[in-house]
Amino acid sequence: MISIKSEREIELMKETCLLAANTLQYIEGFVKEGISTGELNDLCHEYIIKQGATPSPLNYRGFPKSICTSINEVICHGIPSYDEILKDGDILNIDITTYYKNFHGDTNKTFLVGNVDPETKKLVDVAHQCMMTGIEVIKPGAFIGDIGAAVAKLAHHHHYSVVKEYCGHGIGREFHEEPQVVHNARKGTGAMMKPGMTFTVEPMINRGKLNSKVLSDGWRVVTRDGSLSAQFEHTILVTETGYEILTLLNNN
Ligand code: MF3
Ligand code: CO
Ligand code: CO
Repeated sequence: MISIKSEREIELMKETCLLAANTLQYIEGFVKEGISTGELNDLCHEYIIKQGATPSPLNYRGFPKSICTSINEVICHGIPSYDEILKDGDILNIDITTYYKNFHGDTNKTFLVGNVDPETKKLVDVAHQCMMTGIEVIKPGAFIGDIGAAVAKLAHHHHYSVVKEYCGHGIGREFHEEPQVVHNARKGTGAMMKPGMTFTVEPMINRGKLNSKVLSDGWRVVTRDGSLSAQFEHTILVTETGYEILTLLNNN
């Protein structure tokens, strides 16, 4: 069942989503060559705790850290580590999920570390466009599959691939709720959107093939062919007329 949030629940979703977005903006200033993903984790953890919230990933199904940090060919679910130091030319996705007043807010962004080559920048730019084009189809009466259809069309136009195994998701009182938002789908498939639904759009776009594998730590997902992967994520509310991006700050 897909939960429909009440006015009050939507207010609380907005609060937790704003906190997640602020955390992502806060950490951006620390993303530089020489810092470790373990240190980035600790900074986010402290920031979230100070607001009276908790980081949703910590101990979620055994995940050991407070944020996910996914570098280069890591598609998602990278575990922060003090041994993993950012280098010039890396791309780094930081995924923040906060739990505040019983609601989760989820957002992520791929950052450029120092001088990134133009081809890689293009992948990151197109991954952002893929998320936005998926979001733009959202309105009551549209289908969840319409999102993935729009995402895949744009990704394939650029000869990139779309990861299938990891999806967007309903979000609210639970971190992952129904529906699943598949990012490579057919138009008109899946559940129909209704006002009050909240879910994420978070396409993972690979420069090479779509195939992925999970590393021996049981979490990190990488591209099988070692190609680079980029991702962006927002939490969205379906409104009476369209959508609202709950994890978007006014100043970016
Ligand atoms: N935040 C991720 C998502 O976008 C999920 C991370 S699960 C974790 O859905 F356990 F790795 F934290
Ligand atoms: Co998510
Ligand atoms: Co996320």
